[in-house]
Amino acid sequence: MPSERTRLSVNGRDHELELDTRVSLLDCLREHLRLTGTKKSCNQGACGACTVLLGGERVNSCLVLAVQCAGSEVTTIEGMSSHQVGKAVQEAFVAHDALQCGYCTPGQICSAVGMLAEVEAGVPSALGEAPAALTEAQIRERMAGNLCRCGAYNGIVAALREVVR
Ligand code: FES
Ligand code: FES
Repeated sequence: MPSERTRLSVNGRDHELELDTRVSLLDCLREHLRLTGTKKSCNQGACGACTVLLGGERVNSCLVLAVQCAGSEVTTIEGMSSHQVGKAVQEAFVAHDALQCGYCTPGQICSAVGMLAEVEAGVPSALGEAPAALTEAQIRERMAGNLCRCGAYNGIVAALREVVR
């Protein structure tokens, strides 16, 4: 099996790992670093449960090879309590009951933090609306990559509207 010595920075901590080059970032986080807050569901980029931040941008960690992440900071749900926006999003999720089983929640929160950074950077939504007007429709569109089998969408939108305010 091809393997590679890889240095990963996750939530501000450096890790030196010998990794099979085929290991996804998701499996690396969960099985090599024991950071099990990041969830595996579809394992093929369809649900968003595995969303983390890579260099500040949201990615589906099941679609990224861990060895590709050397040199970039990875932020997972475990790092959100010391992330200013992440902490605010977490508190808003609690205040608005934005979850039921909670399985999708780590991905929803990481995705929301990435989404808010995109808005800050002026990235337009697929609706073609200016990011300054972060409407409910825009929040739903921008978060469309994160599915919730429990249907907690109304609470998620309410939480994110509060963070934006
Ligand atoms: S587990 Fe990665 S997108 Fe579903
Ligand atoms: S809270 Fe259960 S899948 Fe979203």
